[in-house]
Amino acid sequence: MDLAVPEEARRGLEALLAELGGTDLIVISAGTGELNADLAWPPDRDTIAVNVMGFAAVAQRAMAHLLAQGHGHLVGVSSVAKLRGSGDGAAYSASKAFVSTYLDGLRDKAKRSRLPITVTEICPGFVDTAMMKADKPFWVATPEQAAACIDRAIAHRARHAYVTPRWRLVGLLLRMLPGP
Ligand SMILES: NC(=O)c1ccc[n+]([C@@H]2O[C@H](COP(=O)([O-])OP(=O)(O)OC[C@H]3O[C@@H](n4cnc5c(N)ncnc54)[C@H](OP(=O)(O)O)[C@@H]3O)[C@@H](O)[C@H]2O)c1
Repeated sequence: MDLAVPEEARRGLEALLAELGGTDLIVISAGTGELNADLAWPPDRDTIAVNVMGFAAVAQRAMAHLLAQGHGHLVGVSSVAKLRGSGDGAAYSASKAFVSTYLDGLRDKAKRSRLPITVTEICPGFVDTAMMKADKPFWVATPEQAAACIDRAIAHRARHAYVTPRWRLVGLLLRMLPGP
């Protein structure tokens, strides 16, 4: 499914859920983002289309399914970038703040339902994939290491998980330091 076409993505998810006859776990990992220091519009537009509109369209449909089913686990992939607006990629960091806050909202919804539904926010630092666009990346995880961390977070039904866990230190630091 193409998250840039939200109605189609929702229909794709519905078809998949119908074919499976329900599911215990839905992981939304798709995302996009470009370095955009020149403030070109198309990269920002495309990032917002996929990471904001597309993410919400699919996450909302997934949660509706879990609520109707009465149980399950929704996992969304955000980023440490959510913590700080960046002049190199303002749309990307803002879109990941949206992902995280949207997941918080869905978690609150699940809690109020009193149903056994877990919502997990995954916050990777740098992972060695095509998405890693930084000039000077550090603490780079392999995709296998990242996947193992995400697997553990899912098994523990964590509400929030940094990938790898030491990125929590960067998270704490960014929360303490003044913003731009
Ligand atoms: N790598 C990092 O350093 C890093 C750090 C923080 C957060 N993240 C987040 O981790 C998630 C996974 O990224 P990754 O590191 O695994 O990078 P990746 O290997 O480039 O994977 C990106 C994934 O998103 C999918 N995608 C992109 N646009 C889409 C669209 N319009 N509709 C449907 N799927 C789309 C891609 O599908 P196709 O292959 O079919 O295009 C691909 O499966 C993303 O949300 C990313 O923002 C990554």
